[in-house]
Amino acid sequence: MVRRDAAHRPWDVDELPTGATKASAVRDMFDAIAPRYDVVNRIMTFRLDVKWRRRAVRSLHLAEGSLVGDLASGTGDLCKELSRSGYVPLSFDFSLGMLRGDTSGAPRAQADILTLPVAASALDGVTCGFALRNVVDLTAFFAELSRVVRPGGRIALLDVGIPRNPVVRWGNSVYFGRIVPRIGALLSDGPAYSYLPRSVAYLPSGDEMVDMLRQCGFSDASHTNLSGGLTQLLVATRRA
Ligand SMILES: C[S@@+](CC[C@H](N)C(=O)[O-])C[C@H]1O[C@@H](n2cnc3c(N)ncnc32)[C@H](O)[C@@H]1O
Repeated sequence: MVRRDAAHRPWDVDELPTGATKASAVRDMFDAIAPRYDVVNRIMTFRLDVKWRRRAVRSLHLAEGSLVGDLASGTGDLCKELSRSGYVPLSFDFSLGMLRGDTSGAPRAQADILTLPVAASALDGVTCGFALRNVVDLTAFFAELSRVVRPGGRIALLDVGIPRNPVVRWGNSVYFGRIVPRIGALLSDGPAYSYLPRSVAYLPSGDEMVDMLRQCGFSDASHTNLSGGLTQLLVATRRA
């Protein structure tokens, strides 16, 4: 994966696992942190995560009753938001621990989101929250989205970001580099909450991801920084 913008990155991607090692490490880590995942998330983001998911679902602009796959669904927060907005969600994740914690009531399947058990063009839309940095191959993931979403269908993808403002970026790296791992160690699993913030280093820049989406068959792809760049949102329409 190309890594531009390195000066803005508090952690180095070369220190992080890749390929099959990364996939199994990520799955094992989420199995381990699943029981306390929701509580740590709310504390660590001061509940901003709720607002970010709402914004992602609102940006879909699909008809009521549309079938939306929530990929890397975790404990089902986006599925709940999708149901509240009148969509019909389907939940896919490869961590059984996280799927067990999914209380959304959406139909669930254990699956790798790079190879979904879904027919071509079967979905009206896709959401994916905070998992882009977890996949082994982001281009393969965008190609899979292009396969499963029908022409005219919509996608909304969230992940953590790196604030552009140097002061906010410094504060963010201290918070996620030092404080979040301590909160994680206290309530859940320290090494996992040390890895998760560092894994933002896997992500290409917003512009690069927009280009990748275009090349994978999406039109009007856009990238928006939320909360000063703490989180980023990618939205696009599957080309007809
Ligand atoms: C940070 S959690 C986010 C969960 C949920 N989307 C949310 O908004 O809270 C990332 C999730 O991605 C899942 N995941 C990561 N890579 C995956 C893959 N290749 N296939 C399926 N699930 C994956 C993990 O198991 C985990 O549940």
